[in-house]
Amino acid sequence: MQTTAEDLVGARTTGTSFVGRRDELAAVRTLLGASRLVTITGSGGSGKTRLAEEVVRRLARSLDGDAGVAYLADATEPDEVVDLVAAAVGMRGGGDPHDALVGYLRGRRFMLVLDNCEHLHASAANLARDLLAGCPDVTILATSRRPLLVPGEQLFPIEGLRDDAAIALFTDRVRLASPSFVLADEQRAIADALCQRLDGMPLAIELAASRLRPLGLAAQMRFLSSAKPHALIEPDGLWMPESEDANPVKLACK
Ligand SMILES: Nc1ncnc2c1ncn2[C@@H]1O[C@H](COP(=O)(O)OP(=O)(O)O)[C@@H](O)[C@H]1O
Ligand SMILES: [Mg+2]
Repeated sequence: MQTTAEDLVGARTTGTSFVGRRDELAAVRTLLGASRLVTITGSGGSGKTRLAEEVVRRLARSLDGDAGVAYLADATEPDEVVDLVAAAVGMRGGGDPHDALVGYLRGRRFMLVLDNCEHLHASAANLARDLLAGCPDVTILATSRRPLLVPGEQLFPIEGLRDDAAIALFTDRVRLASPSFVLADEQRAIADALCQRLDGMPLAIELAASRLRPLGLAAQMRFLSSAKPHALIEPDGLWMPESEDANPVKLACK
């Protein structure tokens, strides 16, 4: 059975739009042509995982199924890293899992995404180094808040989304709850300021959009101008209003 792009990246992002990042998609593809380990770096919520997923999704056809994503955030113990990677490459069997994996991928052409390497940094770096050394046709696209520091690693730092892409993400995510939402012209400047205040961080923009209905854009701006934007991505740091906005900018829901 043919492996689809959705099989590769799982169902995590299915159903939500992907915006912007055209230059980054092209740049990562170019780097992957020149380096066997490319690490997308950036702060939490900046869109590293999503960018890697979209790169592999777009390459899926040419890879003909020889690709897989290991979501290392799912591991709690260092030993689980190799198990997750083995599952991502479709390997089964016994023996020492680390050596078996290197043996399994030796001589195979494979594109492996190692996602969230900062979570178990030493194990991920160790495995990446051994796969690069032992498997000449394996290419690794890693995501990590910090470099793996493996020989030959090519870094690709990303920042938040800019301008139109940030506003498009905000608008698309508001529409998840309010499908008829249209960003009115007079709201655009507020949305733009909101996205800039959040440094264009996709995760923060998604959280802000999910809070829009109860708050209203104007109220949201007020809170964000007094709160630390990064508080938005802390699970217990979500801000809530104490009172209704006196004069909210009305949403253009029809
Ligand atoms: N370019 C983008 N278009 C649409 N959604 C995005 C984009 N970049 C990130 N997201 C979304 O923002 C959230 C955070 O992105 P993620 O890739 O998980 O960040 P990171 O891996 O850097 O922590 C996810 O829900 C993701 O789907
Ligand atoms: Mg991630």
